Amino acid sequence: MTPVTETAAALKLTERINRIEPSATMAVVAEADKLRQAGVDVVDLSVGEPHFSTPQHIKDAAIAAINNNFTRYTAVGGTAELKDAITHRHAQDFGSAYKREEATASTGGKHVLFNAIQVLVDHGDEVILPVPYWVSFKDIVRYAGGNCVLLDSHEDQGFRVTAKMIERLVTPRTKMIILNSPSNPTGAVMSPEDLTEVARFAAERGIWVMSDETYVYLNYSGREFSLGSLQEHRERIIVVGSLSKTYAMTGWRMGFALAPSAVIGAMQKLQSQSTSNPTSIVQKAAVAALKGPQSCVSEMRTEYIHLRDHMLAGLRAIPGVKVTTPGGAFYVYPNISAFLGHGVNSPAEFSRKLLHEAHVATVPGEGFGTDEHIRISYATSQNELDRGLERLRGFLASV
Ligand SMILES: Cc1ncc(COP(=O)(O)O)c(C=O)c1O
Repeated sequence: MTPVTETAAALKLTERINRIEPSATMAVVAEADKLRQAGVDVVDLSVGEPHFSTPQHIKDAAIAAINNNFTRYTAVGGTAELKDAITHRHAQDFGSAYKREEATASTGGKHVLFNAIQVLVDHGDEVILPVPYWVSFKDIVRYAGGNCVLLDSHEDQGFRVTAKMIERLVTPRTKMIILNSPSNPTGAVMSPEDLTEVARFAAERGIWVMSDETYVYLNYSGREFSLGSLQEHRERIIVVGSLSKTYAMTGWRMGFALAPSAVIGAMQKLQSQSTSNPTSIVQKAAVAALKGPQSCVSEMRTEYIHLRDHMLAGLRAIPGVKVTTPGGAFYVYPNISAFLGHGVNSPAEFSRKLLHEAHVATVPGEGFGTDEHIRISYATSQNELDRGLERLRGFLASV
């Protein structure tokens, strides 16, 4: 057996696996878990998943699938029934007109992103990535051999990203722009106008826009918008969707892409040599989610808005904490720079101290590319938010 002390070099792991880091969010979860196992009462504001249970009609569809022996391999990118449910839902909600061959399903949105980047980003290609970014984008691009070109956005402008800002970073090697609206970690929402302008600009230059719309239904601006509705620019757009947050289905692992059929075909080819189809049972559950009543989605959205407002009011009552109002997702991204420099020199140190001394788990901003913020998730009960805020107040008074 290989001794566990052997170094990565001695193991001769590939150069490409050594290019990437484990997810920063996962690291926090592991540390908080360790404390919990030691009997510590941790208030967990680090998790990126809904606190709701999966709606009953979706669970019933999965149980029926098992009982009906829908338990065999399916087509790699999902059944025709699932692909049609995906395209119909999108057409109904966003006025798009994707065909069955322009849709594919994978084991979670993350898997979709991985496949799309693997088939489009080559060695030396540049990918424009707005900062703050969701942790995995950078590592998935690096794994494919691409280089991320980081685009700074500014807190005092609500982390706005525009085509003009992107244009300055374009080179002959630019292959792709990654957008994520509503954003993880800031909750910032791009306006339909700004999104349209980026799509138009990218289409003109032959640059791909990968639009991660994992939180598209958790948009509180009243202007829900998918880049996939811009049919005139669709030849260069990849929409990445996920059922994880929309229907409280994180553990089920179901994501999809809407893109030109040649890209979908390449993604399915890659998937055919790795995981094959997403779980057959989950596909039936996904059909029930997409075709069933959507009231569960709006009910959860209403609750998130309430929790966001509660969290913002609580944070803004703490002297020194600066926070922009997020227009979507379920995160706030407060600036904690007023508390740095007195023995606590970085968000990572801040988060660690907050976890170990006040037992509140958050995610430090470094993993998202910034050095003055922490990410707080408000996808939990109001009671947990209150306990977390109380502890945070006490902790900050002592820093
Ligand atoms: C921005 C963003 N994209 C994609 C994902 C992946 O979600 P899943 O793989 O559960 O569909 C997440 C999950 O946290 C996310 O925050």
